[in-house]
Amino acid sequence: MAQRFDLLIRNATLIDGTGALPRKGDLGVNGDRIVAMGDLSAASADREIDAQGKALAPGFIDAHTHDDTVVLCGPECVVPKLSQGVTTVVIGNCGISLAPVKMNRRPPAPLDLVGDADVWQYESFAAYAEQLRKTPPAVNTYALIGHMVLRCEAMDFDLDRPATDKEAERMKTRLAEALKEGASGFSTGLWYPPSRHAPTDEVIAVAEALRDYGGLYVTHMRDEADGVIDSIEETLKIGRETGSAVVISHHKCTMPENFGRSTETLAYIEKAMQKQTVNFDVYPYTASSTALLVDRLRDDMPVQIATSVPHPEMAGRMLSDIAKEWGTDIRTAAQRLLPAGAIYFMMDEADVSRIVAHPRSMIGSDGIPSNDMPHPRLWGTFPRVLGHYARDLGLISLEAAVHKMTGLTASVFGMADRGVLKEGAFADLVLFDPDTVIDTATFAAPKTPAKGILEVWVNGVSSYVGGKGVTGESAGRLITRQPLPA
Ligand code: ZN
Ligand code: CU
Repeated sequence: MAQRFDLLIRNATLIDGTGALPRKGDLGVNGDRIVAMGDLSAASADREIDAQGKALAPGFIDAHTHDDTVVLCGPECVVPKLSQGVTTVVIGNCGISLAPVKMNRRPPAPLDLVGDADVWQYESFAAYAEQLRKTPPAVNTYALIGHMVLRCEAMDFDLDRPATDKEAERMKTRLAEALKEGASGFSTGLWYPPSRHAPTDEVIAVAEALRDYGGLYVTHMRDEADGVIDSIEETLKIGRETGSAVVISHHKCTMPENFGRSTETLAYIEKAMQKQTVNFDVYPYTASSTALLVDRLRDDMPVQIATSVPHPEMAGRMLSDIAKEWGTDIRTAAQRLLPAGAIYFMMDEADVSRIVAHPRSMIGSDGIPSNDMPHPRLWGTFPRVLGHYARDLGLISLEAAVHKMTGLTASVFGMADRGVLKEGAFADLVLFDPDTVIDTATFAAPKTPAKGILEVWVNGVSSYVGGKGVTGESAGRLITRQPLPA
């Protein structure tokens, strides 16, 4: 009997997510799973597509996002993801997560980058997960719990000091509850004002909750500039003392005096990899983006305003130009723009390329959807790695690029049966044209969809069609870490 599928994609170049060489073939889907691969010329399906040799890969996994709010507001809210081929997002990064703390005010920066006072409605991770069930996300969602929100609650917003033992214990209990309810790990943002007074011991005391759940420790490190090696060491120590696998978020070496130091940091990480589980992600741009932080400004660092509550009209403009127009210095101008988001030009292309090219780097956008004029990484990260770095520059092979955004990421985060094309895996898929795929988002016009992404399926459901947009389906699910046996 000839095989029959719900969906059959013929004549594809299969890039399976493992890093293996692409191969020609067909792929059949029933329900939410890939059920057959290879030569399926005798089979038929409800929907048959001739891929005409275009690339078929596992849906991309965005290893680092701030999509905690947008996954709840329908398919249109995640167009920046689906239009890049992203089918799974990791939320709750940099110490910032929408659960498990209710806020009755706009929280201090950078917590406000996931939203103003009105969005902080979840007093438990279970409540957030329940909302995800009621209003399903259009992309799969994998959640971390942020240290900064736990601090706000346990320390009642008195954050310019280390937590007491009792407060740390409270945070640990709250983290453990969330892990029990389906969160997958713990994130910190030790560089940020609300967390920078937290000593390593406080983080260890809270992260101790990870042990029983095999949870991940994910960090925006204390220092990505002069003290980057000390910060990597601090991260490794937290991992060792709590028995946790660690992920260094958006790895970079910032400020001109540190340009070139990625040779040093990558060598340091490689050495640590032989002794403990450590991984890292990167976004493919030389500018970072976060809240506008006045005390972090430098005269030699160009800053573009991404969003401003009192001055929305200034989004997209350079801080130095605004200051000139207002007849003030940049610090005074910045103060007037608060609360605000900003883009900081403070990395070196050679470092970014070196980290992107490293065989163990994962791709994460760190996109900030709440900004009016966001960093272009929100819309462009994945096609930029595929089109610019892999195809145009030849920095890495196409299959290596795909591996960094699929199979590698799924194994690091423990996303079972995702990130690879194989029989039995979930049918998260992206069909794209390797000859034309490219980002179009720029710092001047950041909200534009990638070129060359042809169609995207989430759990077997067609969710985005290139040139048309989202299909309106919301087929994503909450994914919980399944730690691999040690
Ligand atoms: Zn961060
Ligand atoms: Cu981040």
